[in-house]
Amino acid sequence: MTKLRLGVLASGTGSNLQSILDACAQGRIPAQVAVVISNLTSAKALDRAREAGVRAILLPHQLSPSREAYDEQLVSVLREHEVELVCLAGFMRLITPVLLRAFENRILNIHPALLPSFPGLHAVRQALKAGVKISGCTVHVVDEGTDTGPILVQAAVPVLEGDDEESLAARILAQEHRCYPWALRLWAEGRVALEGRRVRIATARGDPTRQILSPALQGEQP
Ligand code: GRF
Repeated sequence: MTKLRLGVLASGTGSNLQSILDACAQGRIPAQVAVVISNLTSAKALDRAREAGVRAILLPHQLSPSREAYDEQLVSVLREHEVELVCLAGFMRLITPVLLRAFENRILNIHPALLPSFPGLHAVRQALKAGVKISGCTVHVVDEGTDTGPILVQAAVPVLEGDDEESLAARILAQEHRCYPWALRLWAEGRVALEGRRVRIATARGDPTRQILSPALQGEQP
């Protein structure tokens, strides 16, 4: 089976990138990371790529006259590396139609909330402030809105008494590291079909009896 060529865009720590690199290296996804691009020199994601023997490219956004011009550069690097699917993994830039059109319905993002709740910045803070009892993460197809595209995979975690932004973000991040590789595996295996806003996933089984109660019942009846 030929491997799906991924291009990962990341601005930060790159722990999601790492989960993708590991899953590819271990043969859990029929894909390979062809290139990692960051807009920031400080991005640890670039080091992670180099350590994995993957092409790491720094494209500082400050040098571009406009967002569109920056995205033109992104598109040309992605094309140069024959990227088939773009993965945003903590990429702290708003992307423009230039990139969206070049990779229409072929850009994924991961977001630390159960979308469509809490899109945009500080999603974990927003969830805590709203007082939800369950939060989680979402892998979605990127469209022209902010975190509004069709949903591919989600994982839920409880919000616990005493949680702060850091503890909840860490619980969510652990699930992100499962969700992104899983979404990529489904995609790379050709099991994903977009039908309007709904993403159909072939042969995906669900357990209809499974649920998360938060706070959890501890032996007692409700
Ligand atoms: C993650 O929380 C992701 O959901 C958000 O940015 C963060 C990136 O973390 N989009 P990392 O750089 O992958 O560690």
